[in-house]
Amino acid sequence: MTTAFDPIDLGGSRLRNRIVMAPMTRSRAYGPGLSPTASTATYYAQRASAGLIVTEGTQPSAGGQGYPDTPGLHSAEQAAGWRRVTDAVHEAGGRIFAQLMHTGRIGHRSLLPDGLRPVSPSAVRPKGSVYTAQGPREFEEPQELTEEGIARAVEEHAAAARNAVAAGFDGVEVHAANGYLAHQFLAPNANLRTDGWGGSPERRARFAVELVTAVAEAIGAERTGLRISPGNPLGDIDEPDPEPAYTALLRALEPVGPGYLHIVETGERSLTLELRKRFAGALILNARTQGRLSGPEELALVEDGTADLVSYGALFLANPDLPERLRAGGPFNTPDRATYYGGDDRGYTDYPALETRRQPQP
Ligand SMILES: Cc1cc2nc3c(=O)[nH]c(=O)nc-3n(C[C@H](O)[C@H](O)[C@H](O)COP(=O)(O)O)c2cc1C
Repeated sequence: MTTAFDPIDLGGSRLRNRIVMAPMTRSRAYGPGLSPTASTATYYAQRASAGLIVTEGTQPSAGGQGYPDTPGLHSAEQAAGWRRVTDAVHEAGGRIFAQLMHTGRIGHRSLLPDGLRPVSPSAVRPKGSVYTAQGPREFEEPQELTEEGIARAVEEHAAAARNAVAAGFDGVEVHAANGYLAHQFLAPNANLRTDGWGGSPERRARFAVELVTAVAEAIGAERTGLRISPGNPLGDIDEPDPEPAYTALLRALEPVGPGYLHIVETGERSLTLELRKRFAGALILNARTQGRLSGPEELALVEDGTADLVSYGALFLANPDLPERLRAGGPFNTPDRATYYGGDDRGYTDYPALETRRQPQP
């Protein structure tokens, strides 16, 4: 029987286990250059016993930023910052993909360079508010992307993917989940377009298809992953019947052959299984847990063949040596929500590993 502790080949490299650190925004790329810091390198290297780390959402362009102090992958300075991270993870024997996250309408002009506004497939303002440096602000009406704007966004993702590989990443995950730009295209309540990028499920899926295709052409399909969250209402998304757009997406990606599909499961397991049937590459599952944090129970998803790999978010944030703790059945440090986004190294690089917990306190 295959277990989550068995190796697997993914993205052209051998992963030491099938336990993935899920992408998590930490908002600590301080400074005008929005580059990862030395602490970022420490944080990810501490978690290198994951089979694969997927980084926090990283903007492929200045206009793709939706939260304060999130790192980018569109400047030489950022690439140099990421090189320290990838070197530290590789030295510790780990593998790491960069998540490219363009937040689209989930943002605010105060987070963007002068003159830029959040963009989206259509000028539909999401309900809710966004966290800015000045505190929470209502979302604004986004600017509808022109066809040139769409082409530019696709090219920016490809350029960021090239930067990622130049910075030592093992691959790139395209973020089409959780209410951000590519998900806005997929969702009928955020995408009201009547041109080639809106309307039918195939046309709503087209932007995500173009992103994945461009990234795969830039860095190789096996090094390209895709994250989706069918039906996830985050960011004021409403997908009453998600299956057609997501099956259209996977059908269109068949000739491209991305290395993995990462599903954030918010709906029924039957949809996950249906999508898995339609995808030839590996499935990373971020399982739906209905309120509790994902934990040792999810390891069974690899054993029973539901998924090839399982990803952990909050528990990995709080437990740098999560695979070892999962193998032992715990104990687990409790994630501190107060230090999720921004702040200093507290709640970032100071969660203890098991050895240090076991050492007698002086
Ligand atoms: C602090 C925090 C930040 C997150 N940031 C991202 C992100 O940047 N990109 C993304 O795709 N998901 C993000 N997520 C969602 C996680 O990847 C994951 O899907 C979610 O936490 C559920 O998994 P879990 O129960 O194992 O935590 C974030 C989650 C947390 C807790």
